Amino acid sequence: MKLPDHILPPTEGDHFSGFWGLEPLPLGASGESLEPRSPIDGKPTCKIRGASPSQVAEAVLAAEHAFRQWRVVPPPRRGEFVREIGELVRQNKKQLAELITLEAGKIRAEAEGEIQEWIDVCEFAVGLSRQLHGLTIATERPEHCLVENWHPLGPVGVISAFNFPAAVWAWNAMIGLVCGDPIIWKPSEQTPLTALACNQIVALATARFGGDAPAGLSTLVIGQADVGSALAADPRVPLVSATGSVPMGRSVAQVVAARLGRSLLELGGNNGMIVTPSADLDIAVRAITFAAVGTCGQRCTSLRRLFLHKDISTELIQRLKTIYSSLPIGDPREPSTLVGPLVNERAFDTMQASLAAAHDQGATLLCGGDRVTEGVPEGGVYVEPALVRLPVQTPVMHEETFAPLTYVVEYENFDDAIEMHNAVPQGLSSAIFTNDVRQAHQFIGPAGSDCGLVGVNIGTSGAEIGGAFGGEKDTGGGRESGSDSWKQYMRRATCTINYGSELPLAQGIRFGDDL
Ligand code: UN1
Repeated sequence: MKLPDHILPPTEGDHFSGFWGLEPLPLGASGESLEPRSPIDGKPTCKIRGASPSQVAEAVLAAEHAFRQWRVVPPPRRGEFVREIGELVRQNKKQLAELITLEAGKIRAEAEGEIQEWIDVCEFAVGLSRQLHGLTIATERPEHCLVENWHPLGPVGVISAFNFPAAVWAWNAMIGLVCGDPIIWKPSEQTPLTALACNQIVALATARFGGDAPAGLSTLVIGQADVGSALAADPRVPLVSATGSVPMGRSVAQVVAARLGRSLLELGGNNGMIVTPSADLDIAVRAITFAAVGTCGQRCTSLRRLFLHKDISTELIQRLKTIYSSLPIGDPREPSTLVGPLVNERAFDTMQASLAAAHDQGATLLCGGDRVTEGVPEGGVYVEPALVRLPVQTPVMHEETFAPLTYVVEYENFDDAIEMHNAVPQGLSSAIFTNDVRQAHQFIGPAGSDCGLVGVNIGTSGAEIGGAFGGEKDTGGGRESGSDSWKQYMRRATCTINYGSELPLAQGIRFGDDL
């Protein structure tokens, strides 16, 4: 594929620099070389000279300088900068999506959907730039005023995963930027071109913006895990937002907590759906299919566990088997493909290991699970999405397998289904299909789903940016993107102003009145 030069930084000889920002930053990376391979055909996508952990310190220094300037730019003006970014993303949507397809193996429609998330969050952030409001609070003292001010927090570290190589950074970066924070980004080593292009869009917006937006506002440090660890450990980075596996998040959280920084975590999901007897099965099968096989099962929000009421399970399984038998699996660049490749061979091995474990725990394979080699590009890892039936929820169902593998368990009693649904360590996304208003409300109520995302008559994946995104338990508790997630990127100052000529003390304390 011809790379879109106009949204990529210049190469240094035959490789890109994994340490990239605005002047005076692009000094050339000094870490190890990386040669990521496309999931489509296993061929190298580019050569990258990685950033070294010590270069993280340089990026943070540049971000600190940028922060001093950016924090006093009025928020609506910061919003104009993000609007500029959004314009450029719209203009380059197709090329950006092509990079996602190349590096993450996503089909076109989903890759473009991911770039649309970036555009959407730009618009959200622009509106937010006039809405970063605090409270005015009643005060007990005469001639006093008690208000909350929200101020920029400082440089924000973003660590993101291969499966959403642009949108997750964009949720953090676009909102962080309007909040007044510079961003230092450690993307997945699998998706450096997408990251370089995203960062370059910010650089192009800076050039168009004219003054105000300082160098050091957006820096990229592409490298191995030690680069992420250096970012997490730097005390000048008050917030680290990390998306990825539970072990990665646990280690980032501990490093950040040891220096009393803030972390915002979006980690593993193990998303379940309950289908009740009153469900509209026509929309249920479509929702299950998109959630289970979309992105080849490699979304944090992918459907992993399906709880079917015994009265509808035979019919629903039959309908799913029919759909699964005709899924177009193959080259994600072909418009007719619905299921692209797994990211790499390791992902296939993990899927096979989970299938074997499920088998040992009493599973029946309903369909799928085999490697696809006919009619797909050579060198990529293509697999038939699998549905596996288990008599009860066994230990393998407590783990997230990042592949198109969905376990099916039958239930009889609704309360038992909710119990089973919640009995896993993760708590990201959940769904119920029902036309029973009581069951719907029970599921979204306090004794229902324990997840951060709860859907009724929709699938577990494909959340909009307007809501807060994230989940509980091992998912890490963070909330990104919409609603009031912006508050995490700012610091709150409670300000008390005495506009009188007396000095009354709170709590009625009298102290040295005669002094
Ligand atoms: C992820 O997989 O980390 O809700 C993010 C969704 C997308 C975001 C997924 N909007 O499926």
